Amino acid sequence: MLLSVNIDHTATLREARKGNEPDPVMSATLAILGGADGITLHLREDRRHVNDRDLALLREIVRCELNLEMASTEEMLQIALKTNPDLITIVPEKRLELTTEGGMDLSFKRDYLCDFVKKLKNKGLVVSVFINPVIEDLNIAKEIGFDMVEFHTGFYADSRGKEQEQALINIIKAVEEAGKIGMLANAGHGLNYFNVSRIASIPGIRGLYIGHSIISRAVLIGIEKAVRDMKSLIKFS
Ligand code: PXP
Repeated sequence: MLLSVNIDHTATLREARKGNEPDPVMSATLAILGGADGITLHLREDRRHVNDRDLALLREIVRCELNLEMASTEEMLQIALKTNPDLITIVPEKRLELTTEGGMDLSFKRDYLCDFVKKLKNKGLVVSVFINPVIEDLNIAKEIGFDMVEFHTGFYADSRGKEQEQALINIIKAVEEAGKIGMLANAGHGLNYFNVSRIASIPGIRGLYIGHSIISRAVLIGIEKAVRDMKSLIKFS
């Protein structure tokens, strides 16, 4: 099973000061050294974290799977056609949301999406879509022409007890169905060091797309060394 590391939140930290650090591109190279099979970034319309410069540099240096998450807008279509990411994941995007809140509603704009996906595939690009683990949505994704899907694991991650068990069953069934209809299935959103195992043990999942928990852990496990480095500079100045 692949692990693609989403480096958006390194850029969130950079944008807190609108400066140069920490650089999400460096984060990507270190993630790859750590064993990441892919790097994901979500280029948002408002560029609130990663930006066009990050995408261009990542395209130059990432030799494993570079996954561009994007809204199905004309601007993003042109960027994707120009950049040639290894994978494009179409996501819903709302300006005021803190993070992607749910899977795509595929019944809405179906003809538009068929045309959109065709333009990307005509250039040889591989296209996925972020959907809820619902069989009907999976079937529509297949009809539209997506190559693969990413099932939204956010509800599983955020729920507890019986609700969480049901959410897990829904993901297992959706992955099984994807296998039957010949669609590759990925999963992601809200996965962390406590809840990932049950998703990682579902047979048939191609890859997991994880961001926030990895960057959060990196901040914590790096603090001790970062402070030691600063102390030694102060001591020897
Ligand atoms: N997959 C998709 C489609 C997403 O939009 C996101 C969040 O940007 C993720 C995975 C990663 O979610 P998280 O940051 O919660 O791990």
